Amino acid sequence: MLHFPPACTVVPPRIPTCIVGLGPGGFIGPTAHGPNLLATNTFSICAAATEPGTEFHLNVADNLRLPQDMVSSDFGALLDRLVMMHKAGDLKLPPVVDICTPTHLHARQISLAATKGIRYIITDKPAVAEINEIRQVSDVLNRTGAKLWVTFNHRYNFIVAWLKAYVATHRERIESIHAGFLQDWLMKEVHFRQADWRTAHKYCALLDILTHAEDLAGYVAGSPIVAVEDASMEMSGVFAQKANFYDAGDSQFICGNGLKGRARCSQSRAGHADDIYVCVTEKGGRQLMWRMEWNSDALMVGQAPNFHDRHKFAQHLRGHSDFFAMELGDADLAGRLAQQFGKNPPGHIQGWDTLWYFLFLGVAGAIYRDLGCLPYVPFLPLSMQIEPPTFADAGIQATAYVHAHVKSAESGGKRVELAEVLAL
Ligand SMILES: NC(=O)c1ccc[n+]([C@@H]2O[C@H](COP(=O)([O-])OP(=O)(O)OC[C@H]3O[C@@H](n4cnc5c(N)ncnc54)[C@H](O)[C@@H]3O)[C@@H](O)[C@H]2O)c1
Repeated sequence: MLHFPPACTVVPPRIPTCIVGLGPGGFIGPTAHGPNLLATNTFSICAAATEPGTEFHLNVADNLRLPQDMVSSDFGALLDRLVMMHKAGDLKLPPVVDICTPTHLHARQISLAATKGIRYIITDKPAVAEINEIRQVSDVLNRTGAKLWVTFNHRYNFIVAWLKAYVATHRERIESIHAGFLQDWLMKEVHFRQADWRTAHKYCALLDILTHAEDLAGYVAGSPIVAVEDASMEMSGVFAQKANFYDAGDSQFICGNGLKGRARCSQSRAGHADDIYVCVTEKGGRQLMWRMEWNSDALMVGQAPNFHDRHKFAQHLRGHSDFFAMELGDADLAGRLAQQFGKNPPGHIQGWDTLWYFLFLGVAGAIYRDLGCLPYVPFLPLSMQIEPPTFADAGIQATAYVHAHVKSAESGGKRVELAEVLAL
């Protein structure tokens, strides 16, 4: 895919990136971040920080074809080296640090990177787990001026973007928005890397997957969630009961623009592998839904109340149906969105990795713009013009939502404002 138009005579240099958490057996670093940063052809991986106490740095250096001294388990020393290399002109652009480690390590690693002089940081979600970590990271970002983006990847899809545009265009038609994330991988007791650190936190499912549902709901609503009520959380599976973590939750949310809906999650729901969805219900009962597990590239159109029955929905594929332009009433906007999120030919399913690809293009665009009046900035392709989620909005929001959910559930479902938990 060619990104820059012929009129852009200077194509930007690649952005040097250090991935933190690229060890063998790691999930998101090796599968989503590494390959999709490279796929954009706007980032290069120049370094990696691996887990202390392991020999992972040897394997990672070989796999990335990097010199051994650019892969280290000494994150602080690696950061010093990156900053020095940029100052010396060995790195043409300021290096990015991309954090793919377990969530409880994020606040410390973000703070260290920013304090050592890294200007651009990416972290996977949730950016942080605790309210005091929100303060810690906000302080360090304010003090250093570093920018932090959070990888809420599910926004980066034509159907989701179309739903957001639809809600904004036809606000008066919208009854509610439901978002959820259902999985089954923690139904039974399991012990491996990803399971162990996730289940060590009591709010396991809320931090891990409810945050994705929250982000999608607020994004499609066009207005962040400001309050939670009628919340519940459960230890629904045998493993959750034994190990004492919440594997399921459900709540009503209220957005700043008055839109309401429900967000739910479960890691013990049989038959659901990676079932994330956002469903817009209209006042007449029609439902418009993006549901990744059913078809990440299709809009599902059905009738309330049954949005879990696959056979009740008609599918409209991106670029393969006039439904999008007709219903939105804006063919140009529908066309622009389809073009913005189209890597494969129309009608061809793109899948999960594509969400990441577009997210990283968005981050690259934000970095190029932040670097000032560079000759290629006016020519940034559409896919690089979408503002990526920042810590200040999506990052703080997601963690505050989890804590508001818990507070509401612990107080019998009472309404809790996100501002209230942030003030604690
Ligand atoms: N956006 C998404 O769709 C999505 C999906 C899965 C995970 N995540 C998030 O990504 C993050 C990582 O999750 P995961 O499932 O990939 O975890 P993981 O346990 O599979 O991988 C973590 C990696 O970090 C490395 N590591 C551990 N401690 C380290 C340290 N001190 N320094 C450097 N490296 C270290 C490990 O060796 C491992 O390679 C979490 O915040 C998680 O919530 C997001």
